[in-house]
Amino acid sequence: MAAKHLIGLLVFSLALGNSWAQEEQPKSDEKAPSGTAASAPTTPQAVHDYKISPEDAARKNPTKFGSVSVERGKKIFNTQCVMCHGENGDGKGDMVEEMKINPPDFTKPETLKNRTDGELFAIMNVGSGVMPDQRRMTETHKWNIVNFLRSLSGKTPEKATGKEAEENVILVPQ
Ligand code: HEC
Repeated sequence: MAAKHLIGLLVFSLALGNSWAQEEQPKSDEKAPSGTAASAPTTPQAVHDYKISPEDAARKNPTKFGSVSVERGKKIFNTQCVMCHGENGDGKGDMVEEMKINPPDFTKPETLKNRTDGELFAIMNVGSGVMPDQRRMTETHKWNIVNFLRSLSGKTPEKATGKEAEENVILVPQ
């Protein structure tokens, strides 16, 4: 019985190790342009080396990709992210020049193509050198933002049913 458990644990950690390796691969590739971005600020800043665990990356978005969620996400994005990421997520926010930053262009489908919803959620939690972390924001707000980010590159959210729209209580962004 005990041995059986041990084997199960071993298989589990192997599987984790494997997904971790896959997780790490693209990041190390993307590290190089990150360095060049500093000297050539006209090209959008390359992906930051966020520390995301395989569990976080694999986390499923519990919030339906629907218009209600996207609209809610947009409202919070407009208060917390727009100054850097720009109104339509193109990376041309008001603070960009002053802060000498160059956020990625979310309107291009390839920008977030390799990111899972779990990774986007985790990135908001950890923040980066310039980007504030959103640890204190409720999880639902963050999943709504994830859905909004997905809509920026042209993905169309499911239309809300009449009932859902009624249930759409406007929450005050934190
Ligand atoms: C102070 C400016 C600033 C604010 C505010 C900000 N960001 Fe960022 N963000 C950046 C910069 C610059 C990058 C690219 C470099 C980096 O990651 O540090 C970035 C990167 C990202 C990425 C990573 C894209 C990728 O795949 O690597 C995501 C996702 C993101 N931001 C989402 C958000 C969201 C959502 C908010 C609001 C809750 C937000 N950011 C607020 C500046 C900002």
